[in-house]
Amino acid sequence: MWRRCAWLAVVVALPVLALSDTGRFWFITDIHYDPSYLRPHQPGRVCDSLGPGMDPPANPGPWGDHDCDPPWRTINSSVYAMKAIDPNPDFILRGGDDVPHVDRASLNYTARTVVTLLSNITQLLEEVFPGVPVYSSLGNHDYWIKNQLPDTPNDVYNDVATLWLSGAGQDAMDTFRRGGYYSAPLRAGLRVIGLNTNLLYGRNLVTEGQDDPAGQFAWLEQQLEQARGNMEKVYIIGHVPPGTHERIYTKRDFRPNHNKRYIAIVRKYADVISGQMFAHEHFDTFRMIYDEQGAPISTVFLSPAITPWMRRNNPAFRQYLYERTTGELQDYLQYYANLTKANDLQLTDLDWQLEYQATVDYGIPDVTPVSMETLRNSLNEVPSGAFEKYYKHNSVGVDYGLCVEDCRAAQLCSTYRVDYDEYDVCWQARVGGVRGHRADGVLNVLALAVMGVVRHLV
Ligand SMILES: *[C@@H]1O[C@H](CO)[C@@H](O)[C@H](O)[C@H]1NC(C)=O
Ligand SMILES: *[C@@H]1O[C@H](CO)[C@@H](O)[C@H](O)[C@H]1NC(C)=O
Ligand SMILES: *[C@@H]1O[C@H](CO)[C@@H](O)[C@H](O)[C@H]1NC(C)=O
Ligand SMILES: *[C@@H]1O[C@H](CO)[C@@H](O)[C@H](O)[C@H]1NC(C)=O
Ligand SMILES: [Zn+2]
Repeated sequence: MWRRCAWLAVVVALPVLALSDTGRFWFITDIHYDPSYLRPHQPGRVCDSLGPGMDPPANPGPWGDHDCDPPWRTINSSVYAMKAIDPNPDFILRGGDDVPHVDRASLNYTARTVVTLLSNITQLLEEVFPGVPVYSSLGNHDYWIKNQLPDTPNDVYNDVATLWLSGAGQDAMDTFRRGGYYSAPLRAGLRVIGLNTNLLYGRNLVTEGQDDPAGQFAWLEQQLEQARGNMEKVYIIGHVPPGTHERIYTKRDFRPNHNKRYIAIVRKYADVISGQMFAHEHFDTFRMIYDEQGAPISTVFLSPAITPWMRRNNPAFRQYLYERTTGELQDYLQYYANLTKANDLQLTDLDWQLEYQATVDYGIPDVTPVSMETLRNSLNEVPSGAFEKYYKHNSVGVDYGLCVEDCRAAQLCSTYRVDYDEYDVCWQARVGGVRGHRADGVLNVLALAVMGVVRHLV
């Protein structure tokens, strides 16, 4: 009997294999270009993006420093490295935040400064990848003043619509000019929806108290409904992600009502949404979304940043492999450069390397929700090996020491429960206390603060 089943499996698998058509795309995010690196406006600071009150780095190297946002040569190097690895991606997606971490009024940043910095990155990608479609979402820094992205037309949305979406059609330009979001076809049967989740961000005072800023949720539902009708699949890209920060369990970016609504939409249209790629944290992680029965139906991927700022991570970008006919994500390859090494050895270029390949390193067949759920489950095992690998990747190799107890609970609940109430139940079960109100919870936050993670979190 088993023989016959095995034969059947082969017969069924063959045509699938024959039809499999793997495409590739790049995801690059949180570049935070700082033109002032090594020539700060205030002498001695090394860079304008140095966190307030931080000591300037003692030996800032030519490729940037873990206390600063990167100089142009680092950004240039990363984009050329992408080209050397794969010059012919189907498209390039970006998560936003091209603008450095500066908020001092003395720097005289304006909407114009923001648009100039965004145009610098856009031009670089056009030069290095001529003819390759590039789509980005706006980051919370891609506006002046940061975080305060409005739900009404303004100069930044207007100019960036022209910069990014001239080839994407009038509808995309129109919604972007209104609310900083859009939908555009990537290829036959596949579409990208670039969300402006900064409108849902708790730190955005402009949209506070609104159920549906700029009508984005209603529009998103209508777009997904339409895609379903047209038999299209959708990749959602956005900057600020749903869910709870996996290192700082007190940090939740979406307002609670918006988090709930977003999850409800993903559940309703999980058959249409083939990928969700987010950014903002600068860390490498993922967050599962389940249906009402608890089956994994979608994964929110968070990719690490180009900027190494606040010692969170090494500069990194990601390549996704996907099935062209279904949009299904098959794998991703995470690339990085060891910044310390480049500076220590005075390398003439950053030495970009494969950090890991998801299927190989995590031992999963692909990166579909079912496989990511397998990975998530393996993180729970003690000792697991999987968790230690995952945790090292989380900061792109920057050493944060051991992750146990609250640190581990925060990671596990973040990947498991995007809904805030469900997260709190997870936390209660693992830690046995109210989230963030336990004595060593406070210690954990202090420990993170010492490593410079909490301070000036954005
Ligand atoms: C960008 O990188 C390329 C490839 O390494 C190099 O030829 C070029 O000089 C670099 N440009 C800048 C401005 O650093
Ligand atoms: C900001 O503007 C003020 C007033 O025009 C000027 O004195 C100052 O030099 C400017 N600062 C920078 C960093 O350009
Ligand atoms: C960024 O754009 C501005 C305005 O076009 C230009 O003056 C500047 O040289 C650009 N910087 C880089 C690094 O391309
Ligand atoms: C980066 O290089 C330094 C040596 O310069 C080494 O100590 C460190 O382990 C490396 N980190 C990673 C993540 O490769
Ligand atoms: Zn960022």
